[in-house]
Amino acid sequence: MKPLSLVMMACCLWLVGCKTDKKTDSAAAEEKTLPAEVFYPTDYRNWTHVKSMVLEPGHPLYESFGGIHHIYANAEAMQGYRSGMFPDGSVIVFDLLEAVRKDSAVSEGNRKVIGVMYKNSKVFTETGGWGFGGFSDQQGTRVQLDPKSACFNCHAGRKDFDYVFSSYRP
Ligand code: HEC
Repeated sequence: MKPLSLVMMACCLWLVGCKTDKKTDSAAAEEKTLPAEVFYPTDYRNWTHVKSMVLEPGHPLYESFGGIHHIYANAEAMQGYRSGMFPDGSVIVFDLLEAVRKDSAVSEGNRKVIGVMYKNSKVFTETGGWGFGGFSDQQGTRVQLDPKSACFNCHAGRKDFDYVFSSYRP
């Protein structure tokens, strides 16, 4: 065998080796970026603002969700708002604040709760592939809740849009 072919063979082996390494790396990265439980999304205020809404006294959901809420979506969830199929890794935040009425204006008051939907179809098989969680402050203090009875049973009515109620106004 000529020295040149030996060098080429060595190069090929090296390249194959690199390729396999890369694959393992990206698989590990994927697992790393997809935690198994709903987490507090620290930077959601930098995400896409989907919509806002004020629920007034008299609304059927006032008891639980009265006040002013803003909905934020990360990049994966934005793909879902556009296609109706939310990929794993999608996170949507329901940021609920008191609605303060003063001088003919409605403004944001104190934080009530931060509701989170996080898609990981391998983990949350009982609740449409979505994990549901709640946090009472920006430090990420968890609210104890049963995701199925407190959240999913109502969101289940939106199966046609992957359990998401809101839509994105372009
Ligand atoms: C009685 C029905 C009901 C229950 C219970 C409920 N939601 Fe929702 N949720 C809604 C509706 C309706 C919207 C859409 C609000 C809008 O369009 O502004 C919504 C919106 C959301 C959104 C934004 C994405 C979307 O679907 O539009 C998140 C995140 C969310 N809810 C989380 C939760 C969590 C977490 C719980 C449990 C603590 C919960 N929800 C319980 C009705 C419900």
